[in-house]
Amino acid sequence: MVDAPGDDRWTNAGSVVLGIETSCDETAAACVRGGGDVLSSVVSSQVDLHARYGGVVPEIASRAHNELIIPVTARALFEAGLDGEDVDAVAATTGPGLIGALLVGVSAAKALALAWDVPFISVNHLEAHLYAGFLEEPELKFPLVVLLVSGGHTMLVLMEDHGRYRLLGQTLDDAAGEAFDKVARFLGLGYPGGPAIDSVAMSGDPEAIRFPRSMMDDGLDFSFSGLKTSVVNHVRNNPSVSTEDVAASFQAAVVDVLVAKARRAAQQHGATALALGGGVAANSLLREQFLTACTEDGMHAFLPSRAMCTDNAAMIASAGWYRLRLDGPTSLDCGADPNLRLSTLPA
Ligand code: KG4
Ligand code: ZN
Repeated sequence: MVDAPGDDRWTNAGSVVLGIETSCDETAAACVRGGGDVLSSVVSSQVDLHARYGGVVPEIASRAHNELIIPVTARALFEAGLDGEDVDAVAATTGPGLIGALLVGVSAAKALALAWDVPFISVNHLEAHLYAGFLEEPELKFPLVVLLVSGGHTMLVLMEDHGRYRLLGQTLDDAAGEAFDKVARFLGLGYPGGPAIDSVAMSGDPEAIRFPRSMMDDGLDFSFSGLKTSVVNHVRNNPSVSTEDVAASFQAAVVDVLVAKARRAAQQHGATALALGGGVAANSLLREQFLTACTEDGMHAFLPSRAMCTDNAAMIASAGWYRLRLDGPTSLDCGADPNLRLSTLPA
């Protein structure tokens, strides 16, 4: 094994990275060649296991990952038509996420890397979401602004090059996905909340209730907890209000702020393109308004497919390929970090 970065033995156009993702409630494995050619991508969602509890139960997630990790990984190899000896490196999400869940994927990836005598690569889940766009649009150019909106994160990131990021703004309280999940739970729409609100909002009036657009004119940071409280107060004060109208008006408030700040960030930093990432990027209204805004600004818009927005292992394998090229293999004594941050350049 070499420790030097830049060794293209593992990161040439033909090298295959097996990616493993277990940070939350999806057990996923994928084989990606050359950082961008997806040979297979298998995702086993545990959503049904957690739905009756109204959210992810960490212990249930870890146990389910344990049961699924071998069959899901075997399936990813099978669908790619590969054997272990064809794999050049194994990448796994080491954070952020649920510690027990992360450890299942990290341990499996290290064991496979050891058995096959190939490098292990630690991948930051947030960095991987940034890479999801490149899998579908390899021609994306830097500088690129990515609006990363998931259940745990809401951030605007300037990608100046592979591995060179600048955090432009982030949420000061709830993540956008968390706000969707909490409001959906309050409205009795079930779990996961984002898709439920997205679908109910289709038959509501987005202008029925004017919910606040927090911090709209205030830099590139976000805040969603006040909006959530406004929804709760409005429904308590107007018990007969239509759930569809509340869902549509809430969604419009979130999307207005996300789109306004993303386009501002792109303008301020001279970005050539704007991309979406993370689970909330599957939201229909966000996709529609994002595209309209980019068209108006003459900016290239990139919207990953819904499958690529939510957690998957193809993005882990892709980010892993680039990480291996930049940093070389990760030591096998590396652990998992539930609070891992995106390593960004100073502002
Ligand atoms: O990226 P992700 O799959 O997992 C992480 O949080 O890392 O994102 C999950 C989040 C959940 O909060 C879910 O409610 C939200 O993405 N989500 C959506 C939609 N689909 C998923 N939010 C709004 N509209 C959607 N269609
Ligand atoms: Zn995610």
